[in-house]
Amino acid sequence: MSFTGRRVLIIGTGLAELAARALDGAVIETAAAETLNGRSLQTDPPDLVLIDAAGASAEAVGAAIATLGRAPTPPPTLLVGEHLPVALVRALMRLPRSDVLEAPFSPEDLCQAAQPLMTPQPAPMHNAPSRCWTVMGAVGGAGATTLAIETACALAERLPGPRRVCLIDLNIADGAAAAYLAAPANMLLSRASQAPERIDAALLDAFVSQAPGGIDLLASARDCHAFDTTSGEAVLRILDVACQVYDAVVVDAPRHRRAWTLDVLSGSDELLVVSELTVPALLAARSLAAEIEAELPDGPPPRIVLNRLAKRVFGPAPSMVEAEKALQRRAIGGITSDWEAAAASANLGGPISQHRPKSRIVKDVGDLVDRLMASPAVRGDVARVA
Ligand SMILES: Nc1ncnc2c1ncn2[C@@H]1O[C@H](COP(=O)(O)OP(=O)(O)OP(=O)(O)O)[C@@H](O)[C@H]1O
Ligand SMILES: [Mg+2]
Repeated sequence: MSFTGRRVLIIGTGLAELAARALDGAVIETAAAETLNGRSLQTDPPDLVLIDAAGASAEAVGAAIATLGRAPTPPPTLLVGEHLPVALVRALMRLPRSDVLEAPFSPEDLCQAAQPLMTPQPAPMHNAPSRCWTVMGAVGGAGATTLAIETACALAERLPGPRRVCLIDLNIADGAAAAYLAAPANMLLSRASQAPERIDAALLDAFVSQAPGGIDLLASARDCHAFDTTSGEAVLRILDVACQVYDAVVVDAPRHRRAWTLDVLSGSDELLVVSELTVPALLAARSLAAEIEAELPDGPPPRIVLNRLAKRVFGPAPSMVEAEKALQRRAIGGITSDWEAAAASANLGGPISQHRPKSRIVKDVGDLVDRLMASPAVRGDVARVA
């Protein structure tokens, strides 16, 4: 294969000469690990990144690999060095196209290692799950935030890529997702609303925080004015960028209608309406679903999830069959009630799947996610009357 005109970015300085001999005709650039920049990786991605582990500290190399991993399409990366730390190699292997080359090596060795990484790949089949799943409660406290978190974590477990799932809490005034996960709420959406056209992958990175359960989180700090100061354009743009960067996005959507609500819903591939098993909640879910169907006839069909299913020991609660009658449609899934697991996880900070992996909630959410991945929603699908 010819390397002529292909761009190779070397992190470190020691390898430039050897790389020029190994990769004949390639355009070689060098940069320090600390200066690797997420924005230029997106706008002007090199054909290969060659990291010389001997040229920087393990921390700096680790940070450079993390920056590469956050790029929407991480460039092929070859890490070279002697006695490479396992942690670095593991981080590298999470990149979609990467390899290691143990020093010392010859120009031929480098050429052989670079070739398969730089061979153009057929575009990956997007046999993937739906890209954006939105969760909305039919009534307050139905469990939308809890299920959005657990769904995001279950999706992250099932997706292979380095940037798997981003949970976006659009309850921008007083969302609870960050508190439930004990993760920072860094999304400054009202400030970004002043120049929404500047919302890009780099800004998204600045807003994102890592949350337990293998997911990233976009959530805002409490701000009672946020709905007035945040523009619909900013909300839709952050969602758009997140959908480009992540394999899947899960949105915890506010229950009350905002100017941008219908756009968020119509841009979603799955729309889960969470209800509990009380008559008022079921009636609210039925109205909300009917309302959405009427307003978005070509949008994702609302699918109802019944949360906190319990044995009928606490008085007369509707059964699943009775609930579906009240809803006048089938529910896509039911989630068992487990107050201990839900409360303990919220108190400890983190998903139930982490703190109480054996809870029925985790199994039920996993089954629901498997079902949704196996049969994605068909836009404009008419609800099946139960
Ligand atoms: N399956 C479940 N079993 C037991 N408790 C649950 C379950 N799902 C949620 N909860 C609990 O119910 C309460 C409300 O849940 P959550 O905050 O997720 O609801 P919400 O619909 O997001 O509420 P809000 O309307 O305030 O946004 C929390 O205490 C949560 O731990
Ligand atoms: Mg909530």
